[in-house]
Amino acid sequence: MALLATRTAKLIPPKRVKVLVRRYDPEKGESWWQEYEIETYRGMTVLDALLKIKEEIDHTLSLRYSCRMAVCGSCGMVINGTPRLACQTQVAEVASEANPVVRVEPMYNFKVIRDLMTDFTEFFEKHRRVKPYLIRRDVEEQENPEYEYKLLPEEYEDFYQYSLCISCGLCVAACPVFASDTRFLGPQALAQAYRFIIDPRDEGWRERLEIVDSEDGVFGCHLAASCSAVCPKEVDPGAAIQRLRSLLLRYRLGLWRKSVSGPVGPMEKKAERMPLPPEAETLPGVSLEELEESKVEIPVEKLISG
Ligand code: SF4
Ligand code: FES
Repeated sequence: MALLATRTAKLIPPKRVKVLVRRYDPEKGESWWQEYEIETYRGMTVLDALLKIKEEIDHTLSLRYSCRMAVCGSCGMVINGTPRLACQTQVAEVASEANPVVRVEPMYNFKVIRDLMTDFTEFFEKHRRVKPYLIRRDVEEQENPEYEYKLLPEEYEDFYQYSLCISCGLCVAACPVFASDTRFLGPQALAQAYRFIIDPRDEGWRERLEIVDSEDGVFGCHLAASCSAVCPKEVDPGAAIQRLRSLLLRYRLGLWRKSVSGPVGPMEKKAERMPLPPEAETLPGVSLEELEESKVEIPVEKLISG
């Protein structure tokens, strides 16, 4: 993100841009290109541009977004032919004085609900299918832990990158296999399967290996790596699929055995609350003694009067 900010800091967009939006009306079953023209400003993102259109020109335009900071993964769309996050893409990155056009379409390989909003039901169904959570054989131990599972930094590093996925679906929108075979599990689900399979705390790896060991799983991938090229979090799902494939083959040949870490304990006691320094300032009417107790309820009127 810091690198991106440095790269885009000096970019200046054209004064005015034409925004071409691929729209879809589910009631009429009609789809068309609609053209808008707006003034830009330095730092304007494609999401800003679409919201300006929605607020000032056309309230009927539908799109999905939330965090505006490349974290929630909900503003994925195809911008000038490439799946990208609208909040992370500056107008100046995709339009120039020579070609002041921003073309926006809903994500490829997803069913369109309306305009730029797509249906993620199948995406999350596939995500769930690979069991993207830690599985322990001893459910009691997991539900009511008395010990903790420690991870060595080098073990964490092995899967850290894959745990950065924000489920934005851009990799699926870029996947050429998914375009022709919707049974394919897809880069996001496969990368998450790998992330949990190699986690030393996980004991559900056999179930997951069975799920991904098929033509709809790792062996369906053509290694085009377009998923990795568009991933906004550098998860590199293409690499995860290759590693998963290699791990699976080694497992079949009896050359891979997972080492599972057990609980290490006992659990550290909750850290004692640090006493507040005597000079700490509090809201009027709230005593330090009150604050030192575990549960402090500050009456609303004190907050307002303070
Ligand atoms: S792997 Fe990357 S592109 Fe795919 S869903 Fe996760 S963050 Fe998005
Ligand atoms: S609005 Fe959250 S990722 Fe773009």
